[in-house]
Amino acid sequence: MIYHISHVTDITSPCKDVRLISLSSPFISTFEIDPGQYINVKAVINGVEVERQYSVCDLQKDKITIGVKKVKSGIMSSYLIDSIKVGDEIEISNPDGRFIVEPKHEIRKSYLFLAAGIGITPIYKMIKEILEQEPKSEICLLYSNKTEKDIVFKSEFDQWKEMYQDQFHVIYTLTDNVNRSFFGLLKSKSSSWTGKTGRITLDFIKENYSSLESTIQKEVYLCGPTEFNIDLEKIVFELGIPHKQIHKEFFHVDQNTEAIASQNAMNAQLTFTLDGNKQTIEVKAKEKLLDAMIRQGVNAPHSCSSGACASCVCKLVSGKVSMDISLALDEDEIKDGYILACQARPLSPEIEIQYA
Ligand code: FES
Repeated sequence: MIYHISHVTDITSPCKDVRLISLSSPFISTFEIDPGQYINVKAVINGVEVERQYSVCDLQKDKITIGVKKVKSGIMSSYLIDSIKVGDEIEISNPDGRFIVEPKHEIRKSYLFLAAGIGITPIYKMIKEILEQEPKSEICLLYSNKTEKDIVFKSEFDQWKEMYQDQFHVIYTLTDNVNRSFFGLLKSKSSSWTGKTGRITLDFIKENYSSLESTIQKEVYLCGPTEFNIDLEKIVFELGIPHKQIHKEFFHVDQNTEAIASQNAMNAQLTFTLDGNKQTIEVKAKEKLLDAMIRQGVNAPHSCSSGACASCVCKLVSGKVSMDISLALDEDEIKDGYILACQARPLSPEIEIQYA
């Protein structure tokens, strides 16, 4: 993956533990980006090189803005929220990702966006581009947060709701709409919020997505934590939307690294083809293919290292592997032999994979 040096030009804080960080570099003007994509951010933190992906909220000439939420024990997010300041240097990659929209002026679709928390960052850019470039399409955003102060981009969405009354519909819902006192022991309903409360459910979608019964082609985009995406994908499918029209991006993957087919674990020889070169390396029992490649100095593509982004996707040519999780692949891709190198561990003594 190619990285470019950029400089921090602006940091804003739309809500607690969230920062919108603008980065500038002459390379950014060469970026071709589809709304919804992310960039990788790389930094050396306490002597360790760390890479993470962040969705692009905005791109203007030579400036790109990413959304960052502080996650518990998150090395990079803590660094970006607590330490980074205007003028600092940071390395960024070209945009990547398959969670995208491709707006076209003549198209007419109905988009249903279901977002939770910071999962709104790729969706914000998608909605903005559809509103500007695909005027015949309609958009419904159902956006879930714990509390009112966690809602990111609320003023922008409310403004768009006024500007695009026939095209854009947004409903917020709060899952923790309570005031706490006495160290959180006593709760009372927050008095100021008059909007919806509770999780996004089947009934919530039926009640608020007015185009559900219409024949217009629908595209559903889900972006939130693992459980949110998995539950809502099932619900949306039950409501009659085919899988190929349901798109999802995972945030905060809760990974159980112990979930391994350990009884069958074995050392393996891994042959891989990357950038036209074929090479063979050793993989230790229980070791993930990506970890083995990085350990042996291979510059293998990767980003989140948690099965969520598909940066490490490759085709299993021969041999057997088990994947801890495979959130970034759909069932057809898995059937076609695609695997995530960051999640795959050897289950046969010889394995061959091929990168695109
Ligand atoms: S690196 Fe993101 S899915 Fe493997």
